Amino acid sequence: MKKHDLLLTAKGHLVTQQSMERDFNLIKLWEQPDRAAALQAAAPKIRALAHTGHSKVDAALMDALPKLEIIANFGVGVDQIDLDAAKKRDIIVTNTANALNDCVADCAMALVLNALRKFPQADRYLRAGRWKSAGTYPFTTSLGGKTLGILGLGRIGEEIATRASAFKMTVRYHNRNRKNVPYAYDPDPVTLAKNSDVLVAITPGGAETDKLVNAAVLDALGPQGYLVNVARGSVVDQPVLLQYLQQQKIAGAGLDVYDDEPNVPAAFFELDNVVLLPHMASATNETRTAMGALQIENILLHLEGKPVKTPVN
Ligand code: NAP
Ligand code: 8YV
Repeated sequence: MKKHDLLLTAKGHLVTQQSMERDFNLIKLWEQPDRAAALQAAAPKIRALAHTGHSKVDAALMDALPKLEIIANFGVGVDQIDLDAAKKRDIIVTNTANALNDCVADCAMALVLNALRKFPQADRYLRAGRWKSAGTYPFTTSLGGKTLGILGLGRIGEEIATRASAFKMTVRYHNRNRKNVPYAYDPDPVTLAKNSDVLVAITPGGAETDKLVNAAVLDALGPQGYLVNVARGSVVDQPVLLQYLQQQKIAGAGLDVYDDEPNVPAAFFELDNVVLLPHMASATNETRTAMGALQIENILLHLEGKPVKTPVN
């Protein structure tokens, strides 16, 4: 059977790329010495584009591919893709919804645990010989009995809620739309923060959620409160968060995502009240393989004239 052509924007998950090489005539955009010439050559035959990572898929890229019908993203968040431009061209955009819920929720809970219990800091303390020289590590904060506020109770947010409940935490949430769930609803992020000991951000990124967690939300969280961000860097006002951590205006934070990744301001590294992960919430072999399989399935379904499994638009 004739293989379909597929344009891949960036080097990504190896197993997924190997599957793509089996299933498609793959054009690897990042390997092309002259990107514009490569796009021009590919334009007459490219109906499908597979995107990985967080670089922009903008109107200019879509315009360079007049036959483009589908953009399949490796990831659930599509804030890097110009959805309006895709809509204008009737280009289908797919994501990897649900494939990563468990891993991202596990990571969010790990950040909650590490922010409150300071396990990474205690590990560093032991390795530095300070248990012997200075005695027991200072007491930390327990999870049980505390309230966890979820900003964005969607597919992943609901998995975080299940895990937090198992840790004997009380769950509350804020979405724009109230849901039929057994958790208390707050009408806005400030009220949610005021009612929470720990606030977890897990909304999509993009213009609508830009700096949703701002100074007013952090003030409401207060000096005993903790922030965990597994959403997107843009959802939190990063310079304000840094200031609040430096001045101990909140108790601590756990972060997986940042503005301008992979550049994380060095000032964060000096702080003992923040746990920092390199955007790795979905990064297990099992989940990344499942994400890749879903990305490929969506492309093949579309090229065979069938409805895709996880459309965004
Ligand atoms: P989802 O099912 O669409 O859930 C998103 C939730 O956010 C919805 O409940 C939505 O409810 C709420 N929301 C959207 N805009 C909002 C706003 N302006 N204010 C308050 N709530 C808002 O998405 P998901 O699959 O759970 O994924 C969520 C996001 O997590 C992704 O888009 C991505 O950015 C991030 N993520 C990060 C990682 C990582 O590696 N760290 C991995 C996977 C996903 P309403 O529409 O009712 O407001
Ligand atoms: C990945 C993510 O980092 O799914 C998302 O929205 O942020 C992560 O799973 C990313 O998508 C990999 O390209």
